[in-house]
Amino acid sequence: MTDLPMHPTSLPAGSCLSYQNGELRMESVPLSQVFAAHGSPVFVYSKAAMLQALAAYQQGLQGRRAHVHYAVKANSSLAILKIFADAGCGFDIVSEGELMRVLHVGANPQHVVFSGVGKTQREMRLALQHGIGCFNVESLPELQALNDVAVAMGTKAPVSLRINPNVDAQTHPYISTGLKDNKFGIAHEDALKAYQLANSLPGIRVRGIDCHIGSQITQTTPFLDAMDKILDLVVDLEAVGIALEHIDFGGGLGIDYKGETPPAADALWQALWQRVDARGLGHKTFMTEPGRSLVGNAGLCLTQVLYLKEGAHKNFCIVDAAMNDLPRPAMYQAYHQIVAIQPRTDHTPERTWDVVGPVCESGDWLGRDRQLQCQPGDVLAVLSAGAYSMSMASEYNSRPKLAEVLVDGDQFRCIRQRNTIQDLWYNEST
Ligand code: LLP
Repeated sequence: MTDLPMHPTSLPAGSCLSYQNGELRMESVPLSQVFAAHGSPVFVYSKAAMLQALAAYQQGLQGRRAHVHYAVKANSSLAILKIFADAGCGFDIVSEGELMRVLHVGANPQHVVFSGVGKTQREMRLALQHGIGCFNVESLPELQALNDVAVAMGTKAPVSLRINPNVDAQTHPYISTGLKDNKFGIAHEDALKAYQLANSLPGIRVRGIDCHIGSQITQTTPFLDAMDKILDLVVDLEAVGIALEHIDFGGGLGIDYKGETPPAADALWQALWQRVDARGLGHKTFMTEPGRSLVGNAGLCLTQVLYLKEGAHKNFCIVDAAMNDLPRPAMYQAYHQIVAIQPRTDHTPERTWDVVGPVCESGDWLGRDRQLQCQPGDVLAVLSAGAYSMSMASEYNSRPKLAEVLVDGDQFRCIRQRNTIQDLWYNEST
């Protein structure tokens, strides 16, 4: 039986969270047990939630020549990469570090695509040495540099050009990437010339086309518009003799942070396939690069209330996690739901709190104007923190990086030890 907290905002879709016997569980594990074993702050992830999210993609791609390439930047912890590698995913990487991480968990390099506007020549060489599947090239100077590296190595680099379709993803400006003003990709109108150049270079083997219009997209329309533009281009390119093997459609599907209702991955792909089939391009290989929608709602951060500071204008609930651990609120004014893991049933009054961390910045808030019944010592869960939290965390204010725990059924295990104080300066000298 699921009973709800005193003031339920419903728990995010796909999180594998429920309230049972007055406390919050992830899968079958009461989060109080994770806190007892590992303290706080700590990130906790549900394996089942990740596999469920992946299953929606697998369902949507079923019967097609199509692959999921998990976008490593969303959460690059090894145990998480291993889950996706074991489940048959390829990877979308953006750096040497991400390449070495996925190779470390045994990924097949052929199923790795390398995105990003600023690949260094060293990164290009390394990726070629390991035989990665494709470079998603974002500019002509990058194409030229990759050609030079490949020629010097006596090989050909497999390439997709990332085309910027100039579609408004209707998301936060910092995570919108498909508009003309963004730094990403090659302009749609320059695509034909760029492909002709790529085809003429001895170190380049043209394989496909790539696009990615943004992140936390909750509407279907921007995806359909982008697909239309990309497919039109594929048809135009074939007309001039440039045949592409694959279409990499990027990532970007949003999640439920505060009641958003993005399309399910399978429903989105059903709609996309109609566009593909209408142009007779269903025989091509398709790729998608989801990050957030695979891990975002699978994770949360447990944090303990340190002090309650009530004031004339604002009440502050000061917790032990901060903007260095959970950077999204400070960076994008992002909303993460915050709930008690053992909602109080006593007479503690409910108040409106700004939930803030110990970092010395006014921007260090995790949630504003939240209705909570809490006391010092209570443990809160910052929800929907599986994506772009640990992977974006820093050690600002000399706060060591957090531990991470993976829940699987009724078991849980530590997948990353909390950094020690000595780890803060292990590579420094006086
Ligand atoms: N492919 C490429 C080329 C990307 O740039 C990204 C994300 C993805 C795939 C994965 O997108 P997703 O499915 O996760 O939306 N830190 C921001 C999000 C930045 C996304 C950057 N690119 C945030 O916390 O909201």
